[in-house]
Amino acid sequence: MEYRGYDSAGLAVNDGTKIEIAKCKGRLKALSDLTNGGETIQGTSGIGHTRWATHGVPSDTNSHPHYNSNESIAVVHNGIIENYIKIKQRLIDKGYSFQSQTDTEVVVQLLDHYYEGDALAAITKVMTKLEGSYALGIVFNDHPDELFAVRKDSPLIVGVSESGNYIASDVPAILKYTRDVYYIDNGEIVKLTRDNVSFYNSDLEPIEKELKTVAWDISAAEKGGYEHFMLKEIHEQPKAVRDTLNPRIRDNDIVIDELNMNEEDIKNLKKIFIVACGSAYHTGMTGKYVIEDLARIPVEVDLASEFRYRNPILEEGTLTIIISQSGETADSLAALREAKRQGMKVLGIINVVGSSIAREADNVMYTWAGPEIAVATTKAYSTQLSALYLLAMHFAKVRGALPQNEFDTLLQNLRQLPEQIQSILDNNVTQIQYIASKFVAVKECFFIGRGVDYTTALEGSLKLKEISYIHSEAYPAGELKHGPIALIEDGTLVTAILTQEDLYKKTLSNIVEIQSRGALVLAVTNEGNEEAVKVSDIAVYIPVTDKHFTTSLAVIPLQLLSYYVSIGKGLDLDKPRNLAKSVTVE
Ligand code: M6R
Repeated sequence: MEYRGYDSAGLAVNDGTKIEIAKCKGRLKALSDLTNGGETIQGTSGIGHTRWATHGVPSDTNSHPHYNSNESIAVVHNGIIENYIKIKQRLIDKGYSFQSQTDTEVVVQLLDHYYEGDALAAITKVMTKLEGSYALGIVFNDHPDELFAVRKDSPLIVGVSESGNYIASDVPAILKYTRDVYYIDNGEIVKLTRDNVSFYNSDLEPIEKELKTVAWDISAAEKGGYEHFMLKEIHEQPKAVRDTLNPRIRDNDIVIDELNMNEEDIKNLKKIFIVACGSAYHTGMTGKYVIEDLARIPVEVDLASEFRYRNPILEEGTLTIIISQSGETADSLAALREAKRQGMKVLGIINVVGSSIAREADNVMYTWAGPEIAVATTKAYSTQLSALYLLAMHFAKVRGALPQNEFDTLLQNLRQLPEQIQSILDNNVTQIQYIASKFVAVKECFFIGRGVDYTTALEGSLKLKEISYIHSEAYPAGELKHGPIALIEDGTLVTAILTQEDLYKKTLSNIVEIQSRGALVLAVTNEGNEEAVKVSDIAVYIPVTDKHFTTSLAVIPLQLLSYYVSIGKGLDLDKPRNLAKSVTVE
C-alpha cells in the first residue's frame, strides 16, 4: 500500500498473548529495518498501515496503529474523523490521555470506552459517534484469532484465500495472495478469522455479500523490469488505450453498451457536466473541446471540490460524468452524490472495478488501464481521453452532427492512436532525455497552447510540477499577454503545444513575443510543421492524427520529459513529496 501513503508505517500483531506494535516515521523500509523484515513481530493476526499525514506531522508517535493505554486494542485508519476534537475533549474529561496529534486516536480510545468484551457491539457503538470518513482495521487482545474492519466513505476490500483472509484499502495489496475479493459497502462491518469471513450491517444483522474475482494478476501490479512504476505505466499506454477502445469498436461503429442510453436519450441531452480532480479534470477539459465540437452538446467542466459546494444548476436533460482513476477520490464521490441528490443520472468513467464511485454511479464506462501504481497518472489519463473520444463520436453520430464519411475517418484515426503512441515511445525517448538533461536546473516553466492544446498544456504542467517540483503554470497561449508574460525572463522554459493547424499562426506569434523576452521555447508539434522549428529552440515532433485526438500523442513527450527531469534531479518520482495516489480525504 506504500503508493497510497509513505511518510510513516506501522504494524500491530497479535501473538495470542499480547498485541505487539512496531511503528516509525519514514518509508516502509524503515519499518522493515526496525522489525528485521517482520521477524521480530510474529503472530497469527495483525494490521498494518502506511500513512500520509493529515492530522499531525509525520512522526513515530503519529504513525498508525494507534492503541489504548494498556495496548489491548489497536487500530489503523484511512480517512478523516471530522468531529475528533469534540470527541477528544469528552474523553479527556472522562480521564483519557492522548499521545498523538492524530484524529485516529479518538477511535481507539472510544473503543476502549465502550468495549465490555463484545468487539462488534463496541464497534457499532463507536460508529454512531464518528463523523467523517473511515476504513478501520481493528485488533483486540481478547480476540487473538479475529480481525475486525468497518468502512464509511473510505475504500475497504476483503480478500479470501485458503491460507488466510485479508483486509486492504486497494486490490494490488493482496493480489500476491488472492484475486477473490469482497467489496465492503458503507456502514458494513467485517469479522475475519483465518478460515472465515462474516459480514454485518450496522444493526449487527448478518449480511450476505457476493464474492468477486479480480481480473488483474500480480504481474500487472509489479514493476516488471522497469526502474519505476511511472516508466512502466508510460510504456503500457499503447495497450491500455487499445484495451479501452477495442471492445467498444464493432463493425466500424462505436457501441457503448454500458452507457444504457438509447438514441432518444442521447438526442434529448441538453448539457453535460464533467466533474473530476487533477489529471482526470484535464481529460474532462479535453473532452469538452471534443464533445462540443463534434456532438454540439454544451459541456461544463468542474473541479469536484468546487462542484460539490457551489450549488450547481442541474436541469432535466443533463448528464453528469464523473471521471476518476481510483474511483475513491473523496471530492469526486461527493460530487457524484450531489448530482444524484438533484435527481441526475451519473455516468462514471472509472478505472478501478468495484470502487466506490463505480458502485454508486448509475452507469460505468470502465477504462481498462489495469492497476496504476505511480502517483503521477499516465496510462489512466490516456484511457480516460479514449473513453471521452468514444462518447463524443457516439453522441455526434446519434445526434446527426457527424456525417458518416467524417465518422469513418475519425474512427480510422482513433484506431491508430495505440500504434502512434508506441512510435513516440520507440523514437523520441533519446531526444527527450537530452532535452531533460538541458532543463533539469530550470526554476520556472510555462506550458502554453490554444484549444485542445491548452488542455494538453494543463496536464504537461501538472506532471512536471508533481514529480520534479519545478514551479510550472499552464496558460491558454492567448492569455499570456494579460499578465503572466511579466514573469518571462532570461532562461524561463516555455513549452508550446502546437497541434491545431488552424491555430498555429496565432500561437507562433505568442512564441515570438516570449522569445524576445529571453524565454527558451520547446515546441511539441505535428510532423511536417516546419514553421515551429524556426521559432522555437527545440522541437519535438509527434505523428499526425485528427485534430480532436492530438492530446493523446502530444502528452507522451510531456510525460517523458517530466519523468527524465525528475530522474535528473535524483527524486523518488513514484512517491512524490506530499502526494498520495488516491485522495480519499477532502
Ligand atoms: O483517482 P482520481 O483519478 O480521481 O485522482 C484524481 C487526481 O487526484 C489525480 O489525477 C492526481 O491529480 C494525479 N496525481 C495526477 O498525476
